[in-house]
Amino acid sequence: MKPVKVGLLGLGTVGGGTVNVLRRNAEEITRRAGRGIVISHAAARSLDKPRLCDTTGIRLTTDPNEVVDDPGVDVVVELIGGYDLARELVLRAIANGKHVVTANKALIAKYGNEIFAAASRQGVVVAFEAAVAGGIPIIKAIREGLAGNRIEWLAGIINGTGNFILTEMRDKGREFADVLAEAQRFGYAEADPTFDVEGIDAAHKLTILASIAFGIPLQFEHAYTEGITRITPTDVTYAEQLGYRIKHLGMARRVESGIELRVHPTLIPERRLIANVDGVMNAVLVQGDAVGPTLYYGAGAGAEATASAVVADLVDVVRVLTTDPNNRVPHLAFQADALSDLPILPMEQVQTAYYLRLQAEDSPGVLADITRILGDQGISIEAVLQKEPSEGQSHVPLIFLTQRTLEAKMNGAIDAIEALECISGQVVRIRLEHLDSHR
Ligand code: NDP
Ligand code: HSE
Repeated sequence: MKPVKVGLLGLGTVGGGTVNVLRRNAEEITRRAGRGIVISHAAARSLDKPRLCDTTGIRLTTDPNEVVDDPGVDVVVELIGGYDLARELVLRAIANGKHVVTANKALIAKYGNEIFAAASRQGVVVAFEAAVAGGIPIIKAIREGLAGNRIEWLAGIINGTGNFILTEMRDKGREFADVLAEAQRFGYAEADPTFDVEGIDAAHKLTILASIAFGIPLQFEHAYTEGITRITPTDVTYAEQLGYRIKHLGMARRVESGIELRVHPTLIPERRLIANVDGVMNAVLVQGDAVGPTLYYGAGAGAEATASAVVADLVDVVRVLTTDPNNRVPHLAFQADALSDLPILPMEQVQTAYYLRLQAEDSPGVLADITRILGDQGISIEAVLQKEPSEGQSHVPLIFLTQRTLEAKMNGAIDAIEALECISGQVVRIRLEHLDSHR
């Protein structure tokens, strides 16, 4: 049988990795797919740049439309990134009747509803395994492997760059900017690295995970996002003294009134496996009602780790080329006409536990004032840590761990604590998740 012809948009980190993996493992891939898969046409901005891969035998162009319009191309792989050009090219490929594979989580999180509707009308597949957690086959695991479960919540370390930065800062005391520059050299970071460190990239991925876990449309615009740039070594140290690690966590939880969808720095008990996921590695913990917790771990970024997911999607697409479009795995795991309208909850309605750090005057009655304010809001304290004042200092650091409460109540408590005369500066608040099966 003739090989399937692929048109590749982008020859950067992931594009280069994809060419290499397809070439190196060509024989095994053919045995799995039932047909060979070859890249016949590829686009990049420059044809003079040195490449990670051997492009011999591939027709090259600087015009991505040429690839998308090439009648010889069966499947378009979009590895350019970004929102607008990628959207145009993917919709054009679909209109041309081509299947699409993409690693672009920004594209899927923002325009996925429109893209999947267009693909369904045309009877083509849009596959996006590489868009979430790099090489971890998490889309397949949730969409197919856990299809018998009601998913209750999932939590993930889903940005490799951010996790790499936090790990290097904690273990080696390195500077933020220095580690970020290294992540960029390794090809882990987004074209705009604020997407990594401000949690936007993780929110794109969490949006996708929540949709396939709960059967809701993609709603990136409602995700709550907080970055890692304000995490200090002081908080990392106190958290460790209390038995926790600080991770940049994406959390999606189904509660009666809606869906929590949030990315923020989070204290996690250090005994949890996910608290020990370091460097560029990612992990996603999924709580299903039948299976209980399952954990998926692997490289979250990088050329060949991501190419592994791109090529797996290509094999899947080749396998379904001749199947009835109505009998394929739905893009968002649930049938398109059976998606739920459960709302995404505003952050004030989210329930979580907290780590609070404040600078309090070293005098009698201060602790009582703070505990009274927390008590008035119905917030229970789980642990308190008071440090000795440093030589000549009038204020001491006080650290509280609280039990779960509504974010709105915690906002009220923090406002009242900051208004106390005995408190200096702002209260540092970091959310805390126990990640055990029942909460
Ligand atoms: P790169 O920046 O390394 O590569 C982008 C490629 O797209 C380059 O080859 C570039 O050409 C080409 N390109 C950009 N604009 C155009 C254009 N207008 N016309 C033609 N070609 C163009 O990005 P990555 O490979 O890192 O990322 C690609 C996608 O994969 C993104 O969506 C990213 O979020 C996603 N992703 C990345 C991961 C990673 O580890 N890097 C992991 C998982 C997903 P040129 O080389 O000539 O500049
Ligand atoms: N910039 C992303 C990360 C690439 O660091 O996780 C993988 O999606």
